[in-house]
Order: sequence, then C-alpha cells, then structure tokens
Amino acid sequence: MAVVARAPAPEAPSRREEEPRLDLRRRDFLSAADLTAEELAAVLDRAAELKAAIGPAAVQPLAGRTIALLFQKPSLRTRVSFELAVRRLGGDPMHLGQSEVGLGVRESVEDVGHTLERWVDGVVARTFEQSVLEQLASSCRVPVVNALTDLEHPCQALADLLTLRERFGRLRGLSIAFIGEGNNVFHSLALAGCALGLEVRIAHPDGYGPSRSIVERANRLGQVSGGRVTVAPFPRAAVRGADAIYADTWVSMGSETGAAARRVAFLGYTIDPKLLAQAPPDAVVLHCLPAHRGEEIAAEVIDGPQSVVFDQAENRLWVQQALLAEIYRGAG
Ligand code: CP
Ligand code: NVA
Repeated sequence: MAVVARAPAPEAPSRREEEPRLDLRRRDFLSAADLTAEELAAVLDRAAELKAAIGPAAVQPLAGRTIALLFQKPSLRTRVSFELAVRRLGGDPMHLGQSEVGLGVRESVEDVGHTLERWVDGVVARTFEQSVLEQLASSCRVPVVNALTDLEHPCQALADLLTLRERFGRLRGLSIAFIGEGNNVFHSLALAGCALGLEVRIAHPDGYGPSRSIVERANRLGQVSGGRVTVAPFPRAAVRGADAIYADTWVSMGSETGAAARRVAFLGYTIDPKLLAQAPPDAVVLHCLPAHRGEEIAAEVIDGPQSVVFDQAENRLWVQQALLAEIYRGAG
C-alpha cells in the first residue's frame, strides 16, 4: 500500500511495484491493534489517495461479492459509509438488523457465523460485546470487521487520524485531549494513535476511566513511535497545548440505564468556549457523532470554526473503502 506516484515515467517501475506491500488480505479487523503502525499508515495513505482520486479508483475487488452489515445497535455514519464503500468497490452490501437476526437471542452467535459464511464474502458487525464480535469472527471463515463494540471503534479511529493528518500534515508528535469517558472510541484512538506516535490524553471523572489493559497495550505500541497515553487531572489541564480536543457522548449505546448518574458525574466535562480557550488557537475539535449539544459539547464549539467533525464523518467512507480494498485486494 505504498503511495502511488502521481505521474510515473512510463518505463519506470512504480513505487507500488518496488516496495513490499503490506498484506491485509482476508484478515479480520476486530481491534485497532490488529494493524501494525505500518499497516495503519498504509491504510491512511490509501484512503488519502482515494479521496484525492489519485489511486486506482477503478479497482473493484468486491465485484460479484456480498458483504453483510450486521448491526445490533443503531447507526447512521457507519451503516451509510460501509454501504457506500462496498458499492464503490463493486460489491453488494446487505444490511441485517438485530430485530430480524436476533444475534445470540433467536439463535447462537456461532450458528449465525456458520450460516453467513456460506453466502457472504465478509461481515461488518456492530455488537454490544467485543466477545460476541470475536465469537462471530471465529465461527466465520470470511473476514469480519468491527463496526463498533462496547470496547472498541477502530474504523472511527482510522477516520479521526486521517482527519488529523489532513489538518496538520503529520501525526507523529501531535497530542489529542479526549474529554470524557474512557470508552470504545477512546480505546481505539489510544491504540492506533500511540502506534503512530501521538500523545493521547484523557480527562475523565472518577469511575469512568479507560480499560487499564488497553492503556498498557497502547503504551507498549507507542514505545517505538514515541506515542503514549496520559491522564490529566481535569479538562483544563488536558487541553493545554493540545492539537485536538475530542468529545464523545456521556451515554454510549448500551449505557442508557446509568444515564442520570452519568449526567451528574460528567458535569464540568463539557467542551465549551471557555475550555476551548485554554487550548492553542489552531487546535481542532473532534467528535465522532452523534452529538448532544449542551452536554459533552457546546453548540458554539461543534458548530464553530475549529470543528472538523463533518470531515471526520466523511473520512469514515474513505478509510473504510481503503480498508476493504486491501482486505479484498486481488479478490475481484
Ligand atoms: N460515529 C459513528 O459510528 O456513528 P454511527 O453510530 O451513526 O454509525
Ligand atoms: N461511544 C459511543 C460512540 C457512538 C459512535 C457509543 O458507543 O454509543
């Protein structure tokens, strides 16, 4: 997945031919840590090529193939961007909602996996538990891609990093201040961000911190690149000197029963103009969406000039198209 030269001399071999290509063929993508730093960077390169229309856009590795989009929870961005990505690669996306499939309820996760693999060429799945996604992947011989679980949201992290790379022209050495729960979005951002040399900071209320094992893993991934996770005692300390400030909902899908307690615990964790003023003036504001104006982010901030949230949403399409193109490379 090397960058394609814009206009190579006809007789010169392209860099794509010269360099050993990273191989994602037929692989699952269940965690942001499933890709090495080189593979993450290569997917981002490929996504940027597709977005700039300088890559081999005509490649249709999914021609004649069907990808199931199996969703246990609601979605706008993930569903639409995966449907479009599959279509643009020549394939046929098939959406399967929880009310019809009843994953783990109407029948076992394993039986769903063993059945789907007989018909489709891949499964993009949004499940509550990461263990269910892993069970599905181990009962399916076709690639399975994580479209969000309670533990991780790796495709979101790819889009976030592409957005930052577009804005700053680099990733290594940047710092992101994540204000809120150490949740699925944070976990994948920490893993991929540390691998690529970013400092991923978090400020969270007591009791809402990230998984210790994911933080340890992220820090290990950062040992080569200089990336690391740091915990700030309060939001103002986190945003000082940060290149990007990140908000996500206080009440993730599946946490609704604790919503009232969360809204109390997260008071003071709103990204509002006062907090943003503590960050450098060129810092960008990220949010994976859906957003709750007046809770985790003020309307003036998400709708303001530093916000890049719709670039992030758009970039879901490009990174997922790049990821699928590599998983199914040569398959068309
Ligand atoms: N950011 C994100 O995954 O959005 P959806 O839940 O709408 O897919
Ligand atoms: N943390 C949020 C992300 C939504 C895209 C959730 O899991 O609901």
